[in-house]
Amino acid sequence: MHQIILGIESSCDETAAAVLVDGVLRSNVIASQEVHAKWGGVVPELASRAHQEHIVPVVREALKEAGITKEALHAVAFTRGPGLIGALLVGTCFARSLAQALNIPLLAVDHVQAHVMAHFIRDGQDRPMPDFPFLNLTVSGGHTQLVLVRSPLDMEVIGTTMDDAAGEAFDKGAKVLGLPYPGGPLVDLHARSGDPARFPLPKPALRGLDFSFSGIKTAFVALVNRGEMKQPGFKEAERNDLCASLQGAIIDHLMAKARRAIRLHEVARIGIAGGVAANSGLRERLQELGQRENVEVFIPPFAYCTDNAAMIAMAGHHLLEAGRLAPLDVVPIARTH
Ligand code: KG4
Ligand code: ZN
Repeated sequence: MHQIILGIESSCDETAAAVLVDGVLRSNVIASQEVHAKWGGVVPELASRAHQEHIVPVVREALKEAGITKEALHAVAFTRGPGLIGALLVGTCFARSLAQALNIPLLAVDHVQAHVMAHFIRDGQDRPMPDFPFLNLTVSGGHTQLVLVRSPLDMEVIGTTMDDAAGEAFDKGAKVLGLPYPGGPLVDLHARSGDPARFPLPKPALRGLDFSFSGIKTAFVALVNRGEMKQPGFKEAERNDLCASLQGAIIDHLMAKARRAIRLHEVARIGIAGGVAANSGLRERLQELGQRENVEVFIPPFAYCTDNAAMIAMAGHHLLEAGRLAPLDVVPIARTH
């Protein structure tokens, strides 16, 4: 008999559903919320409402694309946290109700751990997957972590951010330059034609494997404001070099900590995941680091790096195999780390 799992993601500004049949992805549907762009960031209240609107059609579409009815499902996996509490509540309530109505197991997934599962999504494409153990750099709008992954259910966080996440550093820097939210992809784009050495930014002096991006951000804001005072229009005139310098400083910091972790834990493989893993500069620098340190590098396809439900269903698959079911009265948690 086939094992069919529905995954549901609603932790931030993406409402997503995916269907996994015997561990293979059959459908992966995402409704992104456009309402936040004009506010320069995600507005929690608007996110919850948009999840309410999207969740039924998104799940229906995922089932339709997979060619199954809801009665064929064997389990429902959903994001329990971390994330925006109102947004999480929508996915949690939906998943609980569906599992109860169908009398099937409920699987509560940790969103940050699920990002790591992006490496293992099978969708018919032939792609190398990392053997265990490996080191993962999880970088998104809400998280920045170095994780030792021993198995799908055994992950140890060995480094985390003390302040902003890497994606937040990109987005806040972009905002100062007048670029719309989310600014990360635009910084990436402009940085390609810029000189990263043009505007030196501080290197965070943090011991161990933890990250801090607030120093880079503060210096960048001061740099832009000073430039504008001296020469109005500075941020437009120097946009490429400013983006390249900001991106370079963020990546330098990420790579410095990754190299340290590789050496300290003698890892043979490194992967990246999360929305910032889409950054072309980061991908290039990770490949270089891998060559220099003699470690294998794994970068999942972009669609599985940003928030999606395929990774939630995949994490759920392992929870189900291990018999780790959630009670039907499970509640979401905004912060898990
Ligand atoms: O994983 P994700 O979709 O959502 C969270 O779990 O947070 O990540 C979104 C983040 C945003 O901060 C966005 O600016 C960043 O990923 N991002 C990028 C790029 N594409 C997305 N940052 C830098 N370069 C990119 N190409
Ligand atoms: Zn995420």
